[in-house]
Amino acid sequence: MTEWMTICAEADLPPEGEVAEVETAGRTYCVARLGGAVCVVDGVCPHEGGPLGQGVLEDGRVVCPWHAFAYDLRTGAAEHDASLKVQVFEAEVQNGEVRAKV
Ligand code: FES
Repeated sequence: MTEWMTICAEADLPPEGEVAEVETAGRTYCVARLGGAVCVVDGVCPHEGGPLGQGVLEDGRVVCPWHAFAYDLRTGAAEHDASLKVQVFEAEVQNGEVRAKV
């Protein structure tokens, strides 16, 4: 079952063009601002478990720091391997909090 959950404070979001790692309720997320919208994806790389929130953002894709696989922050699709996809969560900012449907 999915439910809306507070992921972090809006103030914890990185500036546009960067990603950040957020841990809440025993789970790690990768968060970013993209074109004014907030993006929340699973913080664990589906390749071999690298920390996506410690990666870099390039053209709307987060690049994993371990083996440089790049995932689209809006679709979750991996650039080089169609079988790999990171989970993307519906997200919003409300009352200074970043919330995601997890
Ligand atoms: S663990 Fe992320 S690309 Fe390999």
